[in-house]
Amino acid sequence: MGEVKLTNIIKRFGNTEVIKNLSLHIKDGEFLVLVGGSGCGKSTTLRLIAGLESATEGVIMIGDKDVTNVPPKSRDIAMVFQNYALYPHMTVYDNIAFGLKLRKMDKATIDRKVNEAADMLDIRPYLQRKPKELSGGQRQRVALGRALVRDAQVFLMDEPLSNLDAKLRMQTRTEIKRLQQKLGITTVYVTHDQVEAMTMGDRIAVMKDGIIQQLATPAIAYEFPANLFVAGFIGSPAMNFIKVNISELDADSATVQGEGLQLKLPRPASAQEMAGFKGRDMLLGVRPEFIAVVEGDISSDRSKWQPLQAWVDVVEPSGSRTFVHLSVGKDHKIIAEADTIKVMHLKHGSETTIWVDTGHVHLFDPTSEKRIMSTAQEAP
Ligand SMILES: Nc1ncnc2c1ncn2[C@@H]1O[C@H](COP(=O)(O)OP(=O)(O)OP(=O)(O)O)[C@@H](O)[C@H]1O
Ligand SMILES: [Mg+2]
Repeated sequence: MGEVKLTNIIKRFGNTEVIKNLSLHIKDGEFLVLVGGSGCGKSTTLRLIAGLESATEGVIMIGDKDVTNVPPKSRDIAMVFQNYALYPHMTVYDNIAFGLKLRKMDKATIDRKVNEAADMLDIRPYLQRKPKELSGGQRQRVALGRALVRDAQVFLMDEPLSNLDAKLRMQTRTEIKRLQQKLGITTVYVTHDQVEAMTMGDRIAVMKDGIIQQLATPAIAYEFPANLFVAGFIGSPAMNFIKVNISELDADSATVQGEGLQLKLPRPASAQEMAGFKGRDMLLGVRPEFIAVVEGDISSDRSKWQPLQAWVDVVEPSGSRTFVHLSVGKDHKIIAEADTIKVMHLKHGSETTIWVDTGHVHLFDPTSEKRIMSTAQEAP
């Protein structure tokens, strides 16, 4: 079994605690992505699993074995780094075969494994080349090949795509995911790129300051972010936040008022624990796709879309979709996403009516930064 279990892990460098009581159970065969900003502790967590760092406190299990004090080479893991770490003087073949030769595997088996990996990664034509004669994407595939032939229980990948240009990054992203699905090897993948996390992960662990802020499927993290950090980090353009005050609270609705705007929000059964928030300042969160700039962009239940007066600031076409920057109320800046063809006529400075889907908004407590309620129906 290739499950990985971190329990109450603390990691200090000197007096600085960079991993703070982290517990994480990665399931057998799962593709788990650790995602977060620079310095939040992603690589350290991965290096702890690999055994390249030792935990100050806590227990690490791989399968049913306690590996907390086991050296890296005995942990049954294969690691892929950002900079490939290929040997420049060796051919691709020898780079992939290197670890197997070290372990005195017989020649015929090595040959079979290298060729299998090369076929899987589509690099057979390059086996006799040196790394410098390859493109960045091909080099990264060689690095993957080297991990593949190890027959490890767990793959650990630290920003393996960050040296590639945008197009190649997307291609290789798909290849890695396809490969992982085919082989079913438990994979822990580190990235600072939320798009990569969302597209690749079975689940994502969003980290900040050495703490996992939310561990969830990409869909749940997107639809029901646990706190302001996750809400702002996942999704591009980011969720809009507007300062509001809860002015009225009924059994089935909540009225919020911001400077120059008011919205009446449905209050689903999952959001009944709100009594203490009446009269309090909150942040209203709404994603760009739940703001309609033209009436024709109103989707689903019409009754949930409430109008607001807005002023057009910048219109940013991006292929079939366009991002419209607007001001609402007294200078709240927000971004709406729309079909390009429907908003081409909008001019900078013009006044217009927009609609907010009150069936897809969130309220956050600015003090605790926690999400207090979402108006969407399914509870996480
Ligand atoms: N060997 C070390 N000694 C002291 N501090 C360290 C060491 N390694 C990492 N750190 C610190 O621990 C924190 C977490 O580092 P880590 O490399 O895990 O971040 P990261 O999330 O991978 O960031 P990035 O996205 O920039 O790679 C950082 O503040 C870093 O400076
Ligand atoms: Mg890192």
